[in-house]
Amino acid sequence: MDIKNELITWSDKFSCGIKLIDDQHKELVALVNEMFNHVTGNDLQEHNYFNRVINDAVSYVKVHFATEEKLMLATKFDGYAEHKKEHDSFVLAVVENIKDYEAGKRLTLSSFTRFLKDWVLPHIALMDKKYFEYFKKVATRKADGKLSITSADVNNAAL
Ligand SMILES: [Fe+2]
Ligand SMILES: [Fe+2]
Repeated sequence: MDIKNELITWSDKFSCGIKLIDDQHKELVALVNEMFNHVTGNDLQEHNYFNRVINDAVSYVKVHFATEEKLMLATKFDGYAEHKKEHDSFVLAVVENIKDYEAGKRLTLSSFTRFLKDWVLPHIALMDKKYFEYFKKVATRKADGKLSITSADVNNAAL
């Protein structure tokens, strides 16, 4: 098996045009690919790698979700509650999977990585896309054209 393949290939169809969000999504895709490239079939190696990276990976996902949620609230997106529910249940599922993996249940680094991929891709393509469309409308109305929401905007947004 060629383990240097990308499990997910970034495509512009995932892009929303807001640099902050697109950069975070690219980072998530890179993270999943990075994990995939550490699938060696050697349990000990895989567990060591997993233990080294998993906390940072989870933190990164949480930062991303918090960014999206702030943006949705700041722009009064009406799909916020539904979207947040998906984020929360994903975090719970990740935590459960981590516990299983650490307990040596039948989960492997490979299946864990695929679980991430199978959630991240449809979420970006379906759920995130809903607010992409909304943000575009909001930004066009407000800014006369170019869509620009930066981390400073998010931090400054009155919630
Ligand atoms: Fe997202
Ligand atoms: Fe999202």
